[in-house]
Amino acid sequence: MPERGRVGILISGRGSNMISLVEAMQRGDVPADPVLVLSNVPSAQGLERAAEMGVPTAVVEHRRIKPREAHEREVVRVLQQHRVDLVCLAGYMRLLSPLMVEAFRNRMLNIHPSLLPAFPGLHAQRQALDHGVKLAGCTVHLVDEQCDHGPIVLQAAVPVVAGDTEESLSARILEQEHAIYPEAVRMFFDGKFRVDGRHASVEA
Ligand code: GRF
Repeated sequence: MPERGRVGILISGRGSNMISLVEAMQRGDVPADPVLVLSNVPSAQGLERAAEMGVPTAVVEHRRIKPREAHEREVVRVLQQHRVDLVCLAGYMRLLSPLMVEAFRNRMLNIHPSLLPAFPGLHAQRQALDHGVKLAGCTVHLVDEQCDHGPIVLQAAVPVVAGDTEESLSARILEQEHAIYPEAVRMFFDGKFRVDGRHASVEA
């Protein structure tokens, strides 16, 4: 691994997690550089913000490249071209095929707005409210072949309070997302990051 890690961030929308990751790297809190922000959606708000922060951007439109595997092959090619060590999915709204998972096995993180394994999939915050849980939260995990499933790296919990709406709960969770995602990336580049079955940890 090079002295400073090379991180590629995949987004589909506003990109607030991408911004928190880039800021943490640019502040020097994480020993890595954001070398690419890639989106499957050309109008993704985060692309403009990434460019403003001086990060190279790319668009690989899933609508234009069919089938799914061909699109993913192109995404992988662009990531490899930028010599990315770690891929961070940050609101990247695509189900991944084994092709992409295999290309970045144990080198791809995702953030999900629930305490996994509870409430995988879409609208996790709404699922949590509907279920009546008292604690919600977010999870950073390694990506495997199943959706929102791989080994857990970090989690943060937040309370659900009376009168919470999907918006208020999402905002409370998002604040924690912005804290734990950079921390998980820092752990990855710590040099003692290990994955053993379902267990991801930093050796003492
Ligand atoms: C976040 O809630 C993240 O957990 C989920 O998608 C949302 C993306 O938000 N995977 P943003 O684009 O990072 O602001």
